[in-house]
Amino acid sequence: MKLHFTSGLQGEIRVPGDKSISHRAVMFGSIAEGQTVVSNFLNGADCLSTISCFQKMGVDIAINGTDVEVNGKGIGGLKEPEEVLDVGNSGTTARLILGILSGTAFHSCLAGDESIAKRPMKRVTDPLREMGAAIDGRGGGNYTPVSVRGSRMRGIDFTSHVASAQVKSAILLAGLHAENEWTSVTEPHKSRDHTERMLKSFGAEVKEEGLKVSIKGGQRLKGTTVAVPGDISSAAFFLAAGAIIPGSRILLRNTGINPTRDGILDVLEKMGASFRILPVESASYEPAADLEIETSSLKGTVISGELIPKLIDEIPIIALMATQAEGETIIKDAEELKVKETNRIDTVVHELKKLGADIRATEDGMVITGKKPLKGGAAVSSHGDHRIGMMLAIASCLTESPIDLDRPEAINVSYPHFFEDLQRLSSR
Ligand code: S3P
Repeated sequence: MKLHFTSGLQGEIRVPGDKSISHRAVMFGSIAEGQTVVSNFLNGADCLSTISCFQKMGVDIAINGTDVEVNGKGIGGLKEPEEVLDVGNSGTTARLILGILSGTAFHSCLAGDESIAKRPMKRVTDPLREMGAAIDGRGGGNYTPVSVRGSRMRGIDFTSHVASAQVKSAILLAGLHAENEWTSVTEPHKSRDHTERMLKSFGAEVKEEGLKVSIKGGQRLKGTTVAVPGDISSAAFFLAAGAIIPGSRILLRNTGINPTRDGILDVLEKMGASFRILPVESASYEPAADLEIETSSLKGTVISGELIPKLIDEIPIIALMATQAEGETIIKDAEELKVKETNRIDTVVHELKKLGADIRATEDGMVITGKKPLKGGAAVSSHGDHRIGMMLAIASCLTESPIDLDRPEAINVSYPHFFEDLQRLSSR
């Protein structure tokens, strides 16, 4: 796909619903009793994989545009799937669903695409086995395909060495099956807390003490309504675009600004971007705002430590932003990038180098020196990773001649109308 958008993005957009929240709304709705009504659901490939997995377990789910109705079966009401549960490209589906499957009364088998087959599952299968799960898979249970024989769960007090909401959520969901026992997860840094917030809205009692989250097994979830805010990880592409593409001013309506997800706003601030946060009345326990950004000159920064989990999915676009900032940007403590949809240290560095960026990989991140003009004419690839594809499309707004993007369809995972939104803001 030849990409070349105008310099100067102007106008207003509404990014699609949050991916993490959309997944959880379907999962929790499926194991809740009664109906759950979800609005502004993300109709991207990943969340549709979650829907299809629960449909295969007998849950009646109706999709009408971005409105989704889930007729919950209760935690013990799922039925044995006749087919393999296909999680597609979605790590969140794979890991969270393993927590749910572990305590069922049936056998199930889970697999996904070639990217999923490379992503480590031991981070969830090990603690789930400690809770009593009978899980097996390639590489001793580390890789898909994975099979689960539902068993009786015990509560555990688990300390995770990674700050991962997928790990935390899988264990808490398995903990719901551990009748009358407490399960807790302690993380090195706080990861996104959508599970904690949403479980509470489904009527569960969840205790949070610093970095420790606990849940008591045997609680029943009650169907509810979920109003999904716009996805800040999708908005990040246009926040970065607005900041670095000369002559831009963009308004992003109704974007989620959950404090465990808003690291991109911290980085914009640190780099000297010109933006405004205009809080909107949120219909939910997830805060939202309209975000307005305009072009300004940026300076390099250091991104590390507890900030990393708050912006882990935004690092590809932050790297592009750093190529246009004065001085050096250092991203460290981000080894987790290696186990995302692609090894994002490698793919970001490899693709941005093709455009002439001064960027190098480190063991746990990357170092970027701006401010470098990006050159067109290159053949680049998303490597099948949605966030790499979108980052490269934004990069094409800065090049003098077009770039040629291979595997552009990867963007369907989280932002199906991304190219339309970009086209609308651009006048070329
Ligand atoms: C997600 C958590 C993050 C993130 C992923 C979605 C979630 O992964 O990268 O895109 O919905 O829980 P980790 O928490 O495993 O880092």
